[in-house]
Amino acid sequence: MEILGVSDLNAGYYKIPVLSEVNLTVPEGSICAIVGPNGSGKSTLLKTIFGLTTVYSGRIKFNGKDITHLKPYEKVKLGMSYLPQTGNVFPNLTIRENMIMAGYLLSKKEIKERMEEVLKMFPIFNISMDKKVSTLSGGERQMLAMAMSLMNRPSLMMFDEPTANLSPKLAYQVFEKIEELNESGITIILVEQNVKRALEISDIAYLLVSGRVRFQGDSNELLGHPELGRLYLGIS
Ligand SMILES: Nc1ncnc2c1ncn2[C@@H]1O[C@H](COP(=O)(O)OP(=O)(O)OP(=O)(O)O)[C@@H](O)[C@H]1O
Ligand SMILES: [Mg+2]
Repeated sequence: MEILGVSDLNAGYYKIPVLSEVNLTVPEGSICAIVGPNGSGKSTLLKTIFGLTTVYSGRIKFNGKDITHLKPYEKVKLGMSYLPQTGNVFPNLTIRENMIMAGYLLSKKEIKERMEEVLKMFPIFNISMDKKVSTLSGGERQMLAMAMSLMNRPSLMMFDEPTANLSPKLAYQVFEKIEELNESGITIILVEQNVKRALEISDIAYLLVSGRVRFQGDSNELLGHPELGRLYLGIS
């Protein structure tokens, strides 16, 4: 079953086109990697799915519903979450306050219930809920951003380079967490600069080059592709 379907999508920023004729199918329960060179449109694709760019033509379907022109908060309500690379936490607030902010679409009762539920998955925050986020490490902030997203019980989570600027050890922990979220039933779309690791943990992959889909298929196939990996992804 497809959870997300993008068809014949042309999109960009106001009058600057970036994505051309993009087709994408993400099966429910899968991890889908989106890879490609710098400036190829990976972030633009995630932003477009979430409703933050200009769609010129084409369609985006989520759980069978046309969501092409819905606002981001409406998509959150339907179960979609988007974690941009930066700016996804409020550094001047505490961990608790960040979690409450993340639940702004929810009632007080729901916030309380879901916070308890989410903290079970992120026990490191339990002991330090009143700590300022500005004192957290990059890895801890990434974990907090994930915890915040979970407040809205997403069925699809989209990550834009979640391990950028993290040490190898912290990056490993973030990848482990993403796999754990997937095992709990959440479908994942992952844009990653660590292409090899992204292809290893994902089921299917899309290679974007200059705003167009250059390859789609099994992640293993792309990982072992004699030409594409070397040409566009720095793997051989
Ligand atoms: N806000 C914007 N306004 C206009 N053009 C933009 C904007 N953001 C990105 N672009 C352009 O869109 C194209 C695709 O950029 P995008 O950020 O989607 O690429 P990317 O694949 O995510 O690259 P990277 O690997 O460097 O993160 C680039 O040519 C970029 O200059
Ligand atoms: Mg990007």
